[in-house]
Amino acid sequence: STIDWNASMAEKAGFKHFMLKEIFEQPEAILNTVKGRIIPDSGQVDLPEIGLDDETIRGIERIALVACGTSWHAALVAKYWIEKWVGVPVEVDIASEFRYRTLLLNDRVLTISISQSGETADTLAGIRLASQLGSRILTICNVVGSTMTREADGVIYTHAGPEIGVASTKAFTSQLAALFLLTLYLGKVRETIEPETLRELGHALVGIAGVIEEELPTIRSQIQELIERYYDSRDFLFVGRGLNFPIALEGALKLKEISYIHAEGYASGELKHGPIALIDKDMPVMALVPRDGVYQKSISNVEEIKARQGRLVLIGTRGDEHLPTLTDDVLYLPRVHDELNPLLYTIPAQLLAYEIANRRGCDVDQPRNLAKSVTVE
Ligand code: G6P
Repeated sequence: STIDWNASMAEKAGFKHFMLKEIFEQPEAILNTVKGRIIPDSGQVDLPEIGLDDETIRGIERIALVACGTSWHAALVAKYWIEKWVGVPVEVDIASEFRYRTLLLNDRVLTISISQSGETADTLAGIRLASQLGSRILTICNVVGSTMTREADGVIYTHAGPEIGVASTKAFTSQLAALFLLTLYLGKVRETIEPETLRELGHALVGIAGVIEEELPTIRSQIQELIERYYDSRDFLFVGRGLNFPIALEGALKLKEISYIHAEGYASGELKHGPIALIDKDMPVMALVPRDGVYQKSISNVEEIKARQGRLVLIGTRGDEHLPTLTDDVLYLPRVHDELNPLLYTIPAQLLAYEIANRRGCDVDQPRNLAKSVTVE
């Protein structure tokens, strides 16, 4: 009825789908994650519910990250951050693998679960096992009072607000913000990050919300311009290197979840070991190529795709004049601190998936066969 329609539009604050609303809520969600927990100028980082004293933090020998789906992609990014800035070895597991493999855990290993819902069965089983083996459990979670937060020794809430769309968006970028915050906190306690670097990274983290806010409308309209040429693709590749490799995985997951296009995410350097065999004029490839420390390597990978007539969509740094020589479909993002690129580069990947699914008439918020929270094995 009309009344229902109005009510549902109101719920979505005028957006056509919850997913789109939640994509646009990301700046606020990220700010809510960092709010009250960091003062970049004074180098202060505070995680009161973390449940670990400084001595315990200094004694950590290894970190085990466990999660499913999109939350697992956040874990993959965190591995790069923590190993670089804290110098502690990090292993990342998909929860359904973690729970059935031989776990070498003890009280010097910190296990961190990442979960939007805090109810995912495999992830819960994983932390229960880790706890039995003597590991301390920290959970990064969006739902206050969920089972995972009650069972963990400590919690970092993402405070992204309720996420309704089955495909996770704002929960993901706030998980990234929480994990970067955690990296700064661990680095501060263990004195692996210089005070000046801590201030610089803190400013970059707090500043990323504003950058995303400013860029969102432009990114969306640029993606909309591409859609007619890509929406009926049968396959799609997403590639990235370093910190943006997990974002390529996330882009592929978003697209397959909501548009039912077969999509794969790959580390750019791994293309030559298989997927390059798939490249021809019908294979679209979204490549994430910011001007970061692995830029030159990424560009040579992209050139190999071009040489095989792959249909390139390049997402790169504004001012990079090399990109338009490779394809007509270039989308520019502003330069931010390299470490924060994963948050920014997620946005065009999410919007590409959203606009394609919408153009194909898919049920964006309730994709077939998927559940928001998977509470059974
Ligand atoms: C389901 C959802 C995904 C989510 C995954 C993990 O598959 O559809 O969006 O990433 O579960 O959920 P969690 O709540 O543990 O983050």
